[in-house]
Amino acid sequence: MSPTLPRTAPGIVAVEVLCPILAARGVRPRVLDFEVLAPVPEPPTSSLRSRLSRTIALAWRASPFALASMVLAALLAGAAPTGMAWYARRVLDGVARGERQVVLVGIVAEAVLLFLTYVAGGLNQFATARLRLTLGFLLQRAILEKAIAVPYACFEDAGFYDALTRARREAVGRPVALLAGFFAMVQAFAVLAGSAALLFRFSPLCALAILLAALPSFFTETRFATAIFRLQNRRATEAREQAYLEQVLTRDDHAKEVRLFGTGPTFLERARRVFSLVFEEDQALARRRLLVGLGADLVALALFYAVYVSVAVRALAGALTVGDLGLALVTFKQGDGALKQALGGLRGLYMDQQYLGNLYGFLDLPVPPKRPLLPAARARDERGLRFENVGFTYPGAKRPALLGVDLFLAPGKKLALVGENGSGKSTILKLVAGLYEPTEGRIFLDGRDLAAWDPEALRARLAVVFQDFVRYQLPVRDNVAPRAAEDAVPDEGIRRALARSEAGPIVKKLAQGLDQRLGKWFPGGVELSGGEWQKLALARAFLREQADLLLFDEPTAAIDPAAEAALFARVRSETEGRMAILVSHRFSTVRLADEILVMDGGRVAERGDHDALLGAEGRYAALFRLQAAGYR
Ligand SMILES: Nc1ncnc2c1ncn2[C@@H]1O[C@H](COP(=O)(O)OP(=O)(O)OP(=O)(O)O)[C@@H](O)[C@H]1O
Ligand SMILES: [Mg+2]
Repeated sequence: MSPTLPRTAPGIVAVEVLCPILAARGVRPRVLDFEVLAPVPEPPTSSLRSRLSRTIALAWRASPFALASMVLAALLAGAAPTGMAWYARRVLDGVARGERQVVLVGIVAEAVLLFLTYVAGGLNQFATARLRLTLGFLLQRAILEKAIAVPYACFEDAGFYDALTRARREAVGRPVALLAGFFAMVQAFAVLAGSAALLFRFSPLCALAILLAALPSFFTETRFATAIFRLQNRRATEAREQAYLEQVLTRDDHAKEVRLFGTGPTFLERARRVFSLVFEEDQALARRRLLVGLGADLVALALFYAVYVSVAVRALAGALTVGDLGLALVTFKQGDGALKQALGGLRGLYMDQQYLGNLYGFLDLPVPPKRPLLPAARARDERGLRFENVGFTYPGAKRPALLGVDLFLAPGKKLALVGENGSGKSTILKLVAGLYEPTEGRIFLDGRDLAAWDPEALRARLAVVFQDFVRYQLPVRDNVAPRAAEDAVPDEGIRRALARSEAGPIVKKLAQGLDQRLGKWFPGGVELSGGEWQKLALARAFLREQADLLLFDEPTAAIDPAAEAALFARVRSETEGRMAILVSHRFSTVRLADEILVMDGGRVAERGDHDALLGAEGRYAALFRLQAAGYR
């Protein structure tokens, strides 16, 4: 299963599942605030310091124990090597002078210090693993909460999707990597400083040389870290495409078509092309980095050995003891190791903080306050749903999807929308549902401009079955009532909704009844037929008994005629007194509506009830006769 959020109908996921769950936790997402976000800003350039301190603060929230352990481990591991070098010198001088006591104490002290570094290593590993889980979870949750809070239209913006993908990619490993790199660096610099302090006694110049050796590598590494980061960021879209291609090849709901159309090799080839493009760029950068890195290493090496030679020369001249020479030797080894570690840490730190810019940038994206595109119109005294000259163009689209649509739906009445594919039927429903705002004209519900409605209050009035409804890989119960445990629906309520959508027999058939997991993604799941899934989606809508505006987008497209007839008889009686808008290509159901709008290219081409439209001998009549002839 792919970890990415489903690309289809994300708004539905948001409205149906996540909102109630968050609402129950006291978080009030603003899904129905539907101003399109401005193009996602580049991650704000923020300093390493601020990102580091933000990460440390988050880590403290996620697990104070783990963070404290990491600090302790870094301090221990940073101080121990200096002590060990110091005792090594004492042991050597003790041997030279024949002082047994000094030698023995020195060796024991070294052993203890070495043991402490092991303890520090274990502690660090444990703390890092713990923090990876706790901090990763904390951030994933923050990202998901943000994903719910942004307007639905964001999900149709590729830039937003890239930002979301990048943020999710960074959330688990990156912050901990930043901390680990930071502490590794602190530790390494402690070792380096200790080495320099020990060497300072022989020659301040030597101490300085040890510290200077770090500089060239530092500059090359940070430069390459930036280059790699830029490269990967630029490739967010390719990375997403590659993940998508993998999804196509591995997801259950794609597997059938992949096999029957033989598209497997084609998709594989596309994945390969994306890969080789990415691979080439990576390799070029890696080659350059190798060469420049070696050069910097060479400079460090030369400096180290210059110090070594100068100490050895002075020992030869009798100016230094054997212990001093030994100390210098140990210090070099440690200094070299620490230098590598410090650089590794720095490189990681520099790289990680840039990636964290993606994560924090996403988390800091402002959720636009509810501000209608057009100022709300004055309320009027009226009941029902009214479209007044409504036009709508999808964000980024060139042509309007709706133009000059007028309609009125009185309380208790049923409206049907018919028309060719792409004529704007679903768009009308999405506007009523508040997923988008009209770019022209107004929509009124009970005399109040939809733009002035409180999103929660509006949502309470609605029950919706979208054309691309969701099939939750969850038990039947959660498919019908995907609510938080806090406001769980009693079983009778669920069964009643199932009966209304003619789904009762489906559940009877299932071994575990309402607890039966559906779909094949998880062990024990049972797959349903297309029509059966659709009946569950309908049950989900019927469960909202308080809703008085029902929106059905081809709710019976996959349902057999017998069930459909029963369903509609039931829908009519169940929705008595409630408003409903129904999109359907089946005229047998459409004809039952009080009014029918025939849509054509975003405009209303004809309107009236079934008999009137037949009498008008227009498009509706022609289409109706066509279908009727098909049944003869
Ligand atoms: N998310 C979107 N972004 C941009 N354009 C869209 C989007 N959804 C639909 N459109 C365009 O808007 C027009 C109307 O689409 P709509 O989904 O309302 O058609 P429909 O009448 O429901 O068609 P169908 O019978 O196929 O469901 C189409 O031309 C379509 O290309
Ligand atoms: Mg549609």
